Amino acid sequence: MAFGRGKVILLGEHGVVYGHPALAAGIERGVHATATEASTALLSIPVWDIEVAPSSDPAESLGRAFGALLNVYDSPPCLAVRAEVALPAGAGLGCSAALGVAILGAMDEALGVERSAEERAEVSLAWERVFHGNPSGVDSAMASAGGVAVFHKGKPLDHILPRNALTLVIANTGDSASTKTMVDSVGRQHERNPERVDGVFDAIAAVVRNGALAVGAGDWKALGQLMDLNQGLLASLLLSTEKLEDLCHLAREAGALGAKLTGSGGGGCMIALAAERTSAETVLHAIEGIAEEAFIAEVGT
Ligand code: PMV
Repeated sequence: MAFGRGKVILLGEHGVVYGHPALAAGIERGVHATATEASTALLSIPVWDIEVAPSSDPAESLGRAFGALLNVYDSPPCLAVRAEVALPAGAGLGCSAALGVAILGAMDEALGVERSAEERAEVSLAWERVFHGNPSGVDSAMASAGGVAVFHKGKPLDHILPRNALTLVIANTGDSASTKTMVDSVGRQHERNPERVDGVFDAIAAVVRNGALAVGAGDWKALGQLMDLNQGLLASLLLSTEKLEDLCHLAREAGALGAKLTGSGGGGCMIALAAERTSAETVLHAIEGIAEEAFIAEVGT
């Protein structure tokens, strides 16, 4: 059985598409997949009631993405792949990258193909490109490797070993957002006013560099402040929503050290950093009323 993890971006989304660093962490929720020999290639995702064959139809994204993964082999294999998804889709937790990594991993296992975590992330981008056009690769890298790391487009992950696990509260607004739409919106702002948007990205990059130091030192107070700063910078790019702002506000009021959107924004999830488990439970309780789903995740152990 192969696994693709979900991820949270602690700091640095969107800038990462333009070559700036991002600080990300794998979470233990994700996608498990298995592959068995079959007469024709088929992908099933029972939780969404989906069964698709590889396809080249532009309207069939899943079929095209599955076809793109089958085409990474010298001759496309006939495998029935089953994926068990335990992540919300379109919520900023890297569901599609986790699917790509798990499906490729399951097919590799069935065919006896060995790849490093880095290679698996790179090859699975064939899947991710169908959905996101121009992904930075951070989701696939984290889905494959996990842990806490600084990601730079086109470079190997720079892993950080935190002194202690980070305790996060992850809350889904329930409003799904398309990563491509949000990335395109930032792209249009960048085209109209490159100086302003590059200035925001430079500030986000500084936040990421300081965040990486804070994680290494176990300085959660500093990391929380950097998350708040990052949220303001993302909001200046029109990526936040009223519900994300409400969730951040409630989390901070309940004692979170910092809170921000994670992933593309425009909906999806908020993450809040807690000093420890008990305070995470207080935060969880405070936001439960308005979040569609919320849970505590310990990352970086
Ligand atoms: O919303 P997600 O989980 O797909 O995260 C997207 C992160 C972005 O930086 C906005 C896009 C990217 O390709 O890195």
